[in-house]
Amino acid sequence: SAGYPNLWPSSSCKEPLDVSKSSTFDVVSGILTDMRKIFPFELFHLGGDEVNTTCWSSTRHVKQWLQQHNMTTKDAYQYFVLKAQEIAISKNWTPVNWEETFNTFPTKLNPKTVVHNWLGPGVCPKAVAKGFRCIFSNQGVWYLDHLHVPWEDTYNAEPLEGINNVSQQKLVLGGEVCMWGETADTSDVQQTIWPRAAAAAERLWSRREATSARNGNLTALPRLQYFRCLLNRRGVQAAPVTNLIARSPPIWSGSCYDQ
Ligand SMILES: *[C@@H]1O[C@H](CO)[C@@H](O)[C@H](O)[C@H]1NC(C)=O
Ligand SMILES: *[C@@H]1O[C@H](CO)[C@@H](O)[C@H](O)[C@H]1NC(C)=O
Ligand SMILES: *[C@@H]1O[C@H](CO)[C@@H](O)[C@H](O)[C@H]1NC(C)=O
Ligand SMILES: *[C@@H]1O[C@H](CO)[C@@H](O)[C@H](O)[C@H]1NC(C)=O
Repeated sequence: SAGYPNLWPSSSCKEPLDVSKSSTFDVVSGILTDMRKIFPFELFHLGGDEVNTTCWSSTRHVKQWLQQHNMTTKDAYQYFVLKAQEIAISKNWTPVNWEETFNTFPTKLNPKTVVHNWLGPGVCPKAVAKGFRCIFSNQGVWYLDHLHVPWEDTYNAEPLEGINNVSQQKLVLGGEVCMWGETADTSDVQQTIWPRAAAAAERLWSRREATSARNGNLTALPRLQYFRCLLNRRGVQAAPVTNLIARSPPIWSGSCYDQ
């Protein structure tokens, strides 16, 4: 928003964007229109996570607007998300929103919403039971910047966990591993992503039965070790698979296949 400082509630309190101005939604609309010209896809991720509304209640003109509209900051959060959804849908996008939107106002969300899980387990079961589609990204297993998650946990994650009804299972679009930038840069991003992204990928591309309840050390591990060596040969700086802490170097010399 640096190019449009009007989007800020004030120059000293910059996010979330100013909910009180219609120009804020003109910008949202403009972006969604421009993106529509470039990308043919169905989904547009509208975010909605970790929203801290303090700037709305602490900035005088926004606070006045809230009072005039008889809205709490929580109401305004819902208003913002739903308005952005409406704009997106009018431009033929299907909105994806982080799970906080579903957790906060599940009955208000547009029924087309794809709920994007991240905070923990158990969200997709609730979302699909209400008829929403869902994407699984439980941070306990599929946030690649969580360095203490071992490859087995990434591998053994089950996007359909807790969903027994077959028609509800179909509402889980799949999953996504997330690589956030706070604790990585170009010097270590590849070894943070690989090889654990490959462990999640095998899980997503396999039938549920094909990967569960096996000794991963005997089955999946050699495959991932081989794949990691393949990545290294092609210049991708994938870290050893069995690292206790992701992206750390091998603990001793030896063949790539054994690390
Ligand atoms: C919320 O935003 C306010 C104002 O920017 C900031 O002072 C506060 O630390 C934030 N709270 C959290 C939990 O991040
Ligand atoms: C303001 O909102 C509250 C809670 O939703 C409601 O009880 C009240 O009647 C509203 N007041 C006005 C003036 O609309
Ligand atoms: C499965 O879920 C669908 C959609 O929520 C529902 O209509 C159906 O009754 C459920 N089936 C069973 C056996 O619970
Ligand atoms: C796989 O190997 C690791 C490291 O040697 C060990 O900690 C773990 O218990 C093994 N898992 C199984 C299922 O044997």
